[in-house]
Amino acid sequence: MTAEAQPKNKTTAGSYFVSNYPPFSVWTSDKAPEAHAAIQRLPHPETPLGVYLHIPFCRKRCHFCYFKVYTDKNSSEIRRYLDGLTREFDMYADSPIIGGRKPKYIYFGGGTPSFLSPHQLTGLVETMHKKLPWDEAEEITFECEPGTLTEAKLSAIREIGVTRLSLGIENFNDEILELNNRAHRSKEIQRAYDFARSIEFPQINIDLIAGMVGETDENWSRCVEQAVAMEPDSITIYQMEVPFNTTIYREMMKEKGTEIAPVAEWDVKRRWVDEAFRALEERGYTITSAYTAVKNPDSTRFVYRDRLWAGADMLGLGVASFGHLNGVHVQNQKDMGPYLEKVEAGEFPIYRAHTLSGEERLIREFALQHKLGRVNRRYFQDKFDVDVYERFAGAMRSLQDEGALSADDEWITLSRAGLLRVDECLQRYFLPEHQAIRYT
Ligand SMILES: C[S@@+](CC[C@H](N)C(=O)[O-])C[C@H]1O[C@@H](n2cnc3c(N)ncnc32)[C@H](O)[C@@H]1O
Ligand code: SF4
Repeated sequence: MTAEAQPKNKTTAGSYFVSNYPPFSVWTSDKAPEAHAAIQRLPHPETPLGVYLHIPFCRKRCHFCYFKVYTDKNSSEIRRYLDGLTREFDMYADSPIIGGRKPKYIYFGGGTPSFLSPHQLTGLVETMHKKLPWDEAEEITFECEPGTLTEAKLSAIREIGVTRLSLGIENFNDEILELNNRAHRSKEIQRAYDFARSIEFPQINIDLIAGMVGETDENWSRCVEQAVAMEPDSITIYQMEVPFNTTIYREMMKEKGTEIAPVAEWDVKRRWVDEAFRALEERGYTITSAYTAVKNPDSTRFVYRDRLWAGADMLGLGVASFGHLNGVHVQNQKDMGPYLEKVEAGEFPIYRAHTLSGEERLIREFALQHKLGRVNRRYFQDKFDVDVYERFAGAMRSLQDEGALSADDEWITLSRAGLLRVDECLQRYFLPEHQAIRYT
C-alpha cells in the first residue's frame, strides 16, 4: 500500500500522547464542587503526596507547544503570579487533604521554570518551605530551557535542592531549532550542560523530540550521536504530536486548510525513536519506558512519574495545572486573570474536575503502567482485587495478536514495536464512552 492509502500513518492534528485517564474532555466545571469536597477530606494515610508547580513563562512560544505559556509578562506580573502560587500552596497546607503528610516529590514544570531569576526562585521556595517543609522529598525535578541557564541560575537551582534537572534540548541543529521557533541555539546546550555537570546534580535528563519540523534521517542520526556523547543520566524522547492549540495547527488551517501536519509520519518517528534506543542500548543504557533511556537504572529513578502512575495524590499549583486529590482529578483555571482572581480572594482556583469510579482508577493505573514496558498482574490483584488478565482479556488478546505484548503468569511485557506505539494501544483498555472521543 502507498503511504497515501494509509492516512492513519500521517501526522494529523490532535493529541496523541495519553498522559492521564479518563481523557481531559470528560472533566467538567459542574464537578468542581467534588474537588472542593475532596480537599476537605482526610487522605488515605498511605497515599504519597506530591506537588506540581506550573511556571507558565517562556522566552518564545515554540510552534509545536501545547502548554499554557505566556511570553509577554513583566517582572511585576511574575511577582504577582508567584505570590498567587504561594497563596494557593498555603490554602492546601491548611486543609484536611494534607493529613500530616509531607511532599514526597516536587515537580517544577512549565512553561519554563528556569525563566525565573535566582532571586525569584529562592524567594518562592523559602516561602513555601516555611509553610510545609519539603525535607522528605525523594525527588525535586526542575525543567529548563537551555538558553535561560547562567551559572548563577544553575547554582541557585542546585541550592534549592533540585535532584533531577531536565533540559529541553529537543534538537542540536540551529536551523531546525529556528524553524520550530525554539529560543535556544546549540552552543548554549553544551555550556549549560557542562556547568550543570560540574556542580553535580544527582540526575540530569535531556529531552529530545523525534519529528520536529524540518527533521531528516541524517540530522536525526547526528542528534542521537550528540545526545549519546553527552552521557546524560537519562534521555527522554517524545514523538512529535500536533495538538489543536499549537502554532503549527493554526498555520495549517490558515495556509492550506489541511489536517495533515508538516511533520514526519508516525512510522518514521517510531523508527527514529527505535534507532535512538538501539544506539543508547549499545552504550549500556536501559529502556525504562516508552520515552526514556536510563544510564544506571538501579540508581536513577523517576519518582514523579512512578508515583503518579500508581495513584498518588498531587497538588497541581498554578494556572491550568492538573492535580489528583483523594481520587478526584482536578484542573485549575485556565487563564491568568481568573486564576489570580480566585487565589487572591482566598479561594481554590478550580476550573474543572472528575471523580474517578473504581473501574476508572483501575483502568488509569493499568493503562499508564503499560508505558513502563512491563505491568505486574499481582499489583492489580492486591490493590484492586481484580485479575487484569480476565478483566482486559479481549484487549490484551488483540494486542498480543498484533505482537504488541506478551504475557506470562505474572507479567505483561510490551515488545519494542508495542512500546513505540503504546499511546495508540492504550485506547483499547478505555471504557467504551472514552474511546474515540477528543482527548483534551
Ligand atoms: C514544558 S517543556 C520542557 C521545559 C522547557 N519549556 C523547554 O521546552 O525547554 C516539556 C517537554 O515537552 C515536549 N514537547 C512539547 N511540545 C511537544 C509536542 N508537540 N510533541 C512532542 N513533545 C513535545 C518537549 O520535549 C519539551 O521539552
Ligand atoms: S519553551 Fe517549552 S513550554 Fe515554552 S513554548 Fe517551548 S516547549 Fe513550550
